[in-house]
Amino acid sequence: MASTVVVGGFFGDEGKGKIISYLALHDKPSIVVRGGAGPNAGHTIKDDDKTYKVRMLPSGFLNKDAKVMVGPGVVVNPDVLLKEVNDFGVEGRAFLDFNCGIIEKSHRDADSQGRLKEKIGSTGSGTGPANAERAMRTLKLAKEIEQLKPYLIDVPLEVNSALDRNENVLIEGTQGTHLSLWHGTYPFVTTKDVTASGICADVGIGPKKVDDVIVVFKAYLTRVGTGPMPGELSEEETSQLGWEEFGTVTGRLRRAAEFDFELAKRAVMLSSANQISITKLDVRFPNCAGITSYNELEEDAKSFIKNIEEKLGVKVTLIGTGPSINDVIDLRT
Ligand code: IMP
Ligand code: MG
Repeated sequence: MASTVVVGGFFGDEGKGKIISYLALHDKPSIVVRGGAGPNAGHTIKDDDKTYKVRMLPSGFLNKDAKVMVGPGVVVNPDVLLKEVNDFGVEGRAFLDFNCGIIEKSHRDADSQGRLKEKIGSTGSGTGPANAERAMRTLKLAKEIEQLKPYLIDVPLEVNSALDRNENVLIEGTQGTHLSLWHGTYPFVTTKDVTASGICADVGIGPKKVDDVIVVFKAYLTRVGTGPMPGELSEEETSQLGWEEFGTVTGRLRRAAEFDFELAKRAVMLSSANQISITKLDVRFPNCAGITSYNELEEDAKSFIKNIEEKLGVKVTLIGTGPSINDVIDLRT
């Protein structure tokens, strides 16, 4: 049996979507289940010539044998969810929990203006205002929405039963550690805890049933929206390095900086990560593009990885070397 939790270690956009797709195809989980905040998340997945932008469904949907689920801790925009179910062809194997909260137009309106938009730099997806209403116990739940009926399921029961049957379950986090409502750079954070414990609570799995926690770091730091960012580079420096990125959900230019060991160390601690994944190594070391074997990496790329392992005291087990799902060096035994 194995349950694997994947979380972001920085400010989101670490490349979790691609790592999760790889794990979903490679480890053959019977269930891929999503925790995290809501459709403020955006994962980009490249499969050959196709690019998927995912906001509501788990990024592991490319494994056609896996059921994909959304845990009760996640707030759901029914239109985004139903469109993804249709666009990604997952009808019949996509489920959400009866108790997922529902985002309505009023939440999106509140999220797209004033303090939330200007000061916090929210994504405008309605996630925060819906979570606020959930805390006030006035939010509608999925079980009250007629068009969601065919998709409703008891997610915690499904997940725990699968683990009891010795099946693999992949538990997918969103955002990143330093956007956590409890542990992040408050108030410039999202509206949920997004460390491993929070993600597990979102899907209804207890700490004793977790086998592996993989924390994902990009080879450099990015942040979209406002809030502190140590060592932030200017736009010119960012583009010179080739670290320019645009948000999946918002299209905003991401702020960038050098890999940050203090933030990384704290992320490892907060999620008790026993594995590290480093993504976009090819952006720092273009010679690494598409390499799938560690020995073929050039020396400075290897020392970059070794330095991370030494400073953080945790093994780097998965390395991303390109945008496609199989551009991965897998060092797990
Ligand atoms: P909200 O979660 O939409 O309220 O946004 C709060 C802050 O978290 C803003 O700075 C957003 O840009 C950031 N944020 C929320 N979700 C993500 C994500 O999935 N990736 C990166 N940043 C995010
Ligand atoms: Mg993203």
